[in-house]
Amino acid sequence: MIEVFDPSIMQSLASKWRKEGQPLCLVPTMGALHNGHIALIQEAKKQAGLTIVSIYVNPTQFAPTEDFGIYPRNYPMDRQICAENGVDVLFAPKELYYEDHSSWVVEEDISKGRCSKTRPGHFRGVATVLMKLFWLIQPTKAIFGWKDAQQLELVRRIVRDFYIPIEIIGVETVREESGLACSSRNAYLTEEQKKIASLFSRILKEASMMAEPEAWARRELEKISCFKVDYVEKVNGRLCGAIWIDKIRLIDNFPCAR
Ligand code: PAJ
Repeated sequence: MIEVFDPSIMQSLASKWRKEGQPLCLVPTMGALHNGHIALIQEAKKQAGLTIVSIYVNPTQFAPTEDFGIYPRNYPMDRQICAENGVDVLFAPKELYYEDHSSWVVEEDISKGRCSKTRPGHFRGVATVLMKLFWLIQPTKAIFGWKDAQQLELVRRIVRDFYIPIEIIGVETVREESGLACSSRNAYLTEEQKKIASLFSRILKEASMMAEPEAWARRELEKISCFKVDYVEKVNGRLCGAIWIDKIRLIDNFPCAR
């Protein structure tokens, strides 16, 4: 496995590989890799060519009040997981923003509603960092998880709107045995909170089978005293939800049965 830390070296290596006829498949992450990320890597491995995983905790997608400072970081462990899963290239830039960075990618439809209401500027940060990664690497394909449904919809929209020649592949959410969606932020939960958190997924899943899922899910979630509901919304055939347990915010979604 090749490790690359410098964006310009990444750019020239990727360009060389493309010229040699190697298709490149990119898996963008913020590290603290878990089984969800591994499923994305496995999907990338099924594609022809080289699998590139990026690890970068992107500061611009965190609001000043959010957890950028304490977001879990464990490069040695991440590197081991990548190596064990057959990743060809690990791109872990120290920085992707110039000090006087002043250019942004702003998408104005998908980025509204749901997570944007409590995370202003989040999707601008996501769109901007992905544009950087897409230009640095110019992969043939890029893999994203359905866990972050709004993000996946956003990426597809940007790629379409800017005629970016990258195929976007979505991978279904990987869950713990309890049903809780794997997430780097689960590391913030105590064992007790984790057990209760699995009810969030269970309620959303059950609701997703119903004709009018939003009201039922909200009512059931509100019955659980340590949950604070952010939103429950059916969007593009998926039932999407976000809750807080204490200061920890969890998101999840399920395809609706009808
Ligand atoms: P991160 O939260 O590290 O997630 C990286 C990728 O893993 C995303 O595509 C996400 O949807 C996917 N993922 C996370 N949990 C998953 C699960 N349980 N099952 C399946 N896929 C899962 O999302 C980001 O990083 C960032 O916003 C990023 C796209 C890297 C831009 O900074």
